[in-house]
Amino acid sequence: MNDLSKRSVIAPIQAIDLMTAAFDLQRKGRSVIHMAVGQPAAPTPWVVREAAERAVRDGKIGYTEALGIPSLRERIACYYAETHGLEIAPDRVVVTTGSSGAFNLAFLALFDVGDNVALPAPGYPAYRNILKTLGLGAIEIPTTEDTRWTITPDMLAEAHARHDLKGLILASPNNPNGTMIAPKDLAAIVEACKRLGIRLIMDEIYHGLVYGFPTETALSFSDEVVVINSFSKYYCMTGWRIGWMVVPERFTRTLECLSQNLSLCVNAVAQIAGQAAFDATEELEQVKAGYAANRDLLLERLPSLGLGKLHPADGAFYLYADVAHVTSDSMQFARKLLQDTGVAVTPGIDFDSILGPQHIRLSYAGSQRDVSEGLDRIEGWLK
Ligand SMILES: Cc1ncc(COP(=O)(O)O)c(C=O)c1O
Repeated sequence: MNDLSKRSVIAPIQAIDLMTAAFDLQRKGRSVIHMAVGQPAAPTPWVVREAAERAVRDGKIGYTEALGIPSLRERIACYYAETHGLEIAPDRVVVTTGSSGAFNLAFLALFDVGDNVALPAPGYPAYRNILKTLGLGAIEIPTTEDTRWTITPDMLAEAHARHDLKGLILASPNNPNGTMIAPKDLAAIVEACKRLGIRLIMDEIYHGLVYGFPTETALSFSDEVVVINSFSKYYCMTGWRIGWMVVPERFTRTLECLSQNLSLCVNAVAQIAGQAAFDATEELEQVKAGYAANRDLLLERLPSLGLGKLHPADGAFYLYADVAHVTSDSMQFARKLLQDTGVAVTPGIDFDSILGPQHIRLSYAGSQRDVSEGLDRIEGWLK
């Protein structure tokens, strides 16, 4: 007898399974280079840790407002004024348990069971898996080199004609490839969503980690989009589990009621720490300079390893490489690479069920020494 619900049957995230396997190897004494999971090797900035330390010492760590501590919501609103010249009312900001928490809240608030939501392939696997678990249809729109691996208004209209889409979720920079949508193309997607009656959810978690590509928030083009962001990546706070979303103001009360019931509030220490993260720019820009150097090194050396067929690496800290010439099973490739060399990379199968088996994702969020050593080991192994 199967005594678990059908909807709880959810796909694993291979990157995390691989990270677990890599930790296992490390515990057994092997030297492991972590290029699988998308998390900064750099510690959380000093000012953030100090703020958290003060909060813990103070000890007043209670429930907070379900939408988040008001001063944090104001500070997040201020971020949009500073980075994009946009006036966002703090009432539109909802503090969440990472962007992961925001996806759950947004999907629950915006869609009913049976609604179809589109997403790109390749794309972040949790979108598809959460949608399915919530009883929603996850409609993958395959992207190709022809459209620079992004969804165009025409592709959206075609999918809408077939699936009556209620929503679209996109990330720019995208995971797994770091590829971005140019501002004019983003404006066109926002316009197409409006015309077709599709709610756009824009995942901007990798904003701040962009290497020369123009960055615009979807909020610049419409107040109707739902924008999700997080302290995990640019702010080096993956384990704190804190993020946010910006929504049309009329949605705020519903999100407040959902948050009250689902989690009461986001971890109070993480909220205090998150607020301090906006004062850590100097330290964080140094961390980003390290990613930029890693990215340069990989872009220089990967072609000579036969791994030069890459998606445009505009941002985030990933490179997505075509490995079709060496394998048609990137999962087996990644497991063998880890076993033989101790280098952990992510099989593309997480991100794209069709072309994923011929791709791997390399994260360069680690130290320069590790990236260089990882490349040496891969080079020796592929020879
Ligand atoms: C595109 C994207 N969105 C969301 C997340 C989840 O991040 P968090 O819940 O830590 O904010 C990730 C994590 O890797 C990601 O790559």
